[in-house]
Amino acid sequence: TEAAASFLDGRSPVVISNRQPYSHEYEDEEVVVNRPAGGLTAALDPVMQTVEGTWVAWGSGEADRVVADDDVVPVPPDDPSYDLRRVWLDEDQVDGYYYGYSNQALWPLSHSDTTRATYSQSDWECYRQVNELFAEAAVEESDGETPVLWFQDYHFGLAPRMARDRLDDAFIMQFWHLPWPGWDVFRACPQADELLDGLLANDMLGFHTEAYCQHFLDTVAALTDLDVDRESRSVRHGDRRTYVRPFGIGIDAASQAEAAATEEAEEFWETFTSGHGIDEDQRVAVGVDRLDYTKGLVERLEALEHFWETRPEWRGELTYVQKGAESRSRIPAYRKIQERVEAKVADVNARFGTTDWQPIVYTTEMLSEEELAGLYRGADLCLVTSLRDGMNLVSKEFAAAQLDEDGVLVLSELAGSSGELGEDALLVHPSDTPGVADAIESALTMPDDERAERMRALREQVLDADVFDWIARQFWTAERIEGARNQQESTL
Ligand code: G6P
Repeated sequence: TEAAASFLDGRSPVVISNRQPYSHEYEDEEVVVNRPAGGLTAALDPVMQTVEGTWVAWGSGEADRVVADDDVVPVPPDDPSYDLRRVWLDEDQVDGYYYGYSNQALWPLSHSDTTRATYSQSDWECYRQVNELFAEAAVEESDGETPVLWFQDYHFGLAPRMARDRLDDAFIMQFWHLPWPGWDVFRACPQADELLDGLLANDMLGFHTEAYCQHFLDTVAALTDLDVDRESRSVRHGDRRTYVRPFGIGIDAASQAEAAATEEAEEFWETFTSGHGIDEDQRVAVGVDRLDYTKGLVERLEALEHFWETRPEWRGELTYVQKGAESRSRIPAYRKIQERVEAKVADVNARFGTTDWQPIVYTTEMLSEEELAGLYRGADLCLVTSLRDGMNLVSKEFAAAQLDEDGVLVLSELAGSSGELGEDALLVHPSDTPGVADAIESALTMPDDERAERMRALREQVLDADVFDWIARQFWTAERIEGARNQQESTL
């Protein structure tokens, strides 16, 4: 909040994200308020409460329209301190903008999955139209001479330009939560030029890692005539610049640790393990993922299969718990990954399961924050094997919840978090089946003191660079960039 106050200097910012911090749903025919569990919304919410800005988001809750007779609702519902402005989308718009261009073009493209990306012209038109709606709403909600607009993520590749056209002096910033691919991958996108133009309307553009920043600058250098200033990591266009900076996102680590310390967490772990016939001297590995093809779920299950196949002594001794969260299911590639995961789980369980041991426990049940923390805390190891991942917050949640400091993190080197956590996690290549199996064995046989030492270092990192620190780092940098902008210099 100190950084926010210093940068904002009395201005009320407008945050724009696809997902909203509060939604209204029906529950037993009653309308209830939901706080969608998402790291970003949970972290920005307290900041917004202190700076009294406006949050613009898609009104996606089933009952959102019923509750709000206006586009704007004051939130938090029980003690309002800022405004939530809903953008309403009809079904075609949701299909084209969200399920279409955002998640079937930009999502796979950003994860360098060029063969999965499809570029439908009508999706693109929809994406542009919805970006217009959000840009308009953001402009309407902004006030003052130099308002601050902060766009979140790949749903808004065009909106910054649209907002800039209407508000020349605004300070516009954006954070791209996905990886940025190499320039030779990005050029596979037929709309590359317009997207770059949209993003370059930002004064500051943030990515999780330095590598993604470099990829973005490479892309601009390769695909446009603009002047890329490597030294100041900025792109010059006319008398303006876009500064490109890394800000690795964190989690609300303190509240994760708190959740892990609750009775509810402990009770859940006990009921869950005993309910699945896992007794106390057995070891447990855990995986927690949105059911997305970027997470390397099938590869992970293959590595576990290889582990039990080549190390029969661990059959009956190590159980793997996979918590999956259904995601974007209207998209065929997502339905397919769900089916493949279910089939593989059934396969491995049929192959190695016995009357008193089930190798893989698979659940898509919704868990509360405390229950999830209980699962992380109780587990001996956590497997994160993304094929590519902007950051990966599960790796951080696991560490934060490991209050007893006796678990091991097995982490894909292709997850953004491997840069920060790689020294103390066991790094793996997600598609290297024997390599992942070896890492599982190393984790299980690691001496106690080494385990504790590594987990302590992981926890320290995660507690230190948390999501509040992520916000502060951006506001401090934004303040310096705005200062430089006002003096028309590039001293950064
Ligand atoms: C990623 C994106 C977020 C998104 C989340 C969940 O982390 O960066 O913007 O909210 O996935 O996906 P969903 O499509 O359900 O919002």
